[in-house]
Amino acid sequence: MTQLGIPTSYWIDSTANPSFPQLTEDIAVDVAVIGGGIAGIATAWELVRAGREVVVIEADHLLAATTGNTTAKLSAQHGLIYDRLRSTLGESTSRAYGHDQLDAVEYVAAVADELGIDCDIERRPSISYATDAQQVSAVEAEVEAARASGLPASVVYESPLPYPIAAGVRVEDQIQFHPRKYLLGLVADLVRGGSRVFERSRVVDLSEGSPCRLTTREGAEITAVDVVVATHYPIFDRAGLFSRLTPHRELVVAGPIDPDRDPGGMYITSEDNTRSVRSAPLENGGRLLIVTGESFVPGSAGIAARAQRLAEWAERHFGMRPTYHWAAQDNSTNDGLPYIGSLHLGAEHAYVATGFGGWGMSNGVVAARLLSTLICGGRPDRDQIYDPRRVHPIVEGPGFLRANLANARRFVAGRFGASEVDTPAPGAGAVVGPRGSKCAVYRDSSGQTQVLSASCTHLGCTVAFNDLERTWDCPCHGSRFAVDGSVLQGPATEPLRRLGPDDVGA
Ligand code: FES
Repeated sequence: MTQLGIPTSYWIDSTANPSFPQLTEDIAVDVAVIGGGIAGIATAWELVRAGREVVVIEADHLLAATTGNTTAKLSAQHGLIYDRLRSTLGESTSRAYGHDQLDAVEYVAAVADELGIDCDIERRPSISYATDAQQVSAVEAEVEAARASGLPASVVYESPLPYPIAAGVRVEDQIQFHPRKYLLGLVADLVRGGSRVFERSRVVDLSEGSPCRLTTREGAEITAVDVVVATHYPIFDRAGLFSRLTPHRELVVAGPIDPDRDPGGMYITSEDNTRSVRSAPLENGGRLLIVTGESFVPGSAGIAARAQRLAEWAERHFGMRPTYHWAAQDNSTNDGLPYIGSLHLGAEHAYVATGFGGWGMSNGVVAARLLSTLICGGRPDRDQIYDPRRVHPIVEGPGFLRANLANARRFVAGRFGASEVDTPAPGAGAVVGPRGSKCAVYRDSSGQTQVLSASCTHLGCTVAFNDLERTWDCPCHGSRFAVDGSVLQGPATEPLRRLGPDDVGA
């Protein structure tokens, strides 16, 4: 069995960790961007360039959540999306999507070049492949749809991977890079341009108007003409996105490999139980192999076992022993397109970017350029296809029903189902207690326990223990909490409630 140790992202471990102050006083700006991941930072950077006074407000630390834990493939090729978009929403939509994704890839390369950011950009082919012969026709259809959508796609039936494939879609000249090196370069530039950045400042309230007002947990108020909610899963949802976004989490293992075993591209399976593979340059001249997979719904059981499976797969096929492991979370929309634009039907100055479907590197850049154009009063070519207010009842209907039925079941099971176990082992957590008053109990390795309410502070679903990352994860919309109850990932903004002896006995 591989010893995986404490989860640590290579991207975070291999870059400096600049720190920014907490917001403790009231401020007024042109635009307030909530969230310090790729969508927030890139949007702020675009707006500073356009002459706006911008503030970035991050609840934790910049680039430490999804962006710091990504696989960092900057590619226009997103699994088998083009055939899906073309057949459900039409060729004009799939062409627009393809154009924007290709544009985002080249845009990052141009900005890095212009600002002199050394972010390990490497041009590589992107290959989405199937190993099951029954999937060959789906792959061939995707090649045709991707080509019709403007991508230089071709079909391949062999690859440098150390196992056979049935067929793959290959798109040349995409980019793998170091996301934090790139984005920390943008942060330095936007600070030089007069923008301010605040960390450990959790926004808990938004009052829309002219101007908008934001309040942080610490009591500071930000007055802003425009507000961008770039918090991954939106902390303010005024367009019913909670019912139209599905969270999923994936595990990542990484370690040095013999450079001769580097497959020299960015690969991803088009089938279930994803395996994604790329490499990255190491400081010592070697190569780091990064393998992602074992996708699961937050709140699922047996995460440590999943990580073991992924590590064993990487060792079996590439001789890689993990020196890092981490996990990344993303949200998918029902129609496959991200939500970028106005926060809700009547919103005039509040915007959102979310639902990147695991392709946040290119979609985060698409979001930044689109939102900055909208905020600056421009007329983007095709904001309608990403508009969060769009409704495609036929295309979205089945996904909407599936997600909401699943959440209803989780809510009821969490509230009224039997408790899992009575007492967790040292180093483990469990949800215990009778119906309606469940506790999330964590016992540390010395035997001390922390007892919290198991009711998620977002909408009340019951959290479950993640035995790999030692967190409490909510299955409904993906909020995550540390064992002391503090929020690690929204949409929840409030910590899990601490329980005392009276609560537990209730
Ligand atoms: Fe919505 Fe927990 S994240 S109920």
